[in-house]
Amino acid sequence: MRRTRSGPSIREFLHYYVLVLLAEHSRTRRELIEEIRERSIGNRSYRSSGVLWVASVEMDKVLSNLLERGFIRLDSPRGKWAITWHGRRARRRMEREKPSKSDTKERAAEKILALLEDAPSNSYILDVGTGEGFLAFKLAHEAFRVLGIDSCSLQYSKDSIEKAQEQARPEGGNVEFRQADIRHFDQPDDTFDYIVSSQAMHCMENPPECLKAIYRLLKAGGRFLCIDFLVGLEGFLAHGFHCFLAASREEWTEMLVEYGFGNIRMYELDDYLLVEAEKQ
Ligand SMILES: C[S@@+](CC[C@H](N)C(=O)[O-])C[C@H]1O[C@@H](n2cnc3c(N)ncnc32)[C@H](O)[C@@H]1O
Repeated sequence: MRRTRSGPSIREFLHYYVLVLLAEHSRTRRELIEEIRERSIGNRSYRSSGVLWVASVEMDKVLSNLLERGFIRLDSPRGKWAITWHGRRARRRMEREKPSKSDTKERAAEKILALLEDAPSNSYILDVGTGEGFLAFKLAHEAFRVLGIDSCSLQYSKDSIEKAQEQARPEGGNVEFRQADIRHFDQPDDTFDYIVSSQAMHCMENPPECLKAIYRLLKAGGRFLCIDFLVGLEGFLAHGFHCFLAASREEWTEMLVEYGFGNIRMYELDDYLLVEAEKQ
């Protein structure tokens, strides 16, 4: 069954991208939805459900809003929407407003360290989808005990744990790396004080199952801190259709509540979203 996407984050992107598509040529509502689906087809290489299917009701809301603002008009006999001069200007304005960003991921990682400022130094932290240890090493330098795991299941991540282990050797004892898929990670319940993740949830095969495993492995009162792409205009302008592999703010809230997390907080850092949640 196909999964359609909706909510404010998707609408924010659509307010821009419908103007981009109509600047090429006029299209019906159905053609707009199909075209977005086609252009995001590359996301399938990560997850079959990664393609962006916009819910018709969201497209309707956006079209009527753009019409009200004079950015588009309906070419009635053909049922096609066309962009107006005001629409072209609005599109260019949105592109100009795109902030120049180069170090957002670093800033997001620093925000995680700041959120852990009061954590006891003997805290045991799991970094899920650690890759070559981007977050794990930063946390180890703060004197936390860190375990980084990675499934090494993607084309580019096959050797990541090996590379992280090599880099860890001169670091001494407080950082360790293992190859493991979080869904089948063989550790007792309630093992970790914190679980962190950087730019990894979007490429996991089944994010809800991963979140369920994360919940199980956290101690009660432990926190999950996760950085990933921001779904919306800024995420799209920086990462293209790839950003839709991530969960939107609304989808995160829904998933976290479903698996029992509470005290949910979200921080937007340009094209990244940092999610913080506590095991109740
Ligand atoms: C884009 S990389 C991010 C690496 C690193 N955290 C960083 O920020 O640079 C995502 C990583 O998640 C890993 N991954 C994907 N699914 C996973 C799973 N189910 N369990 C553990 N790791 C997974 C991939 O192998 C990949 O190395």
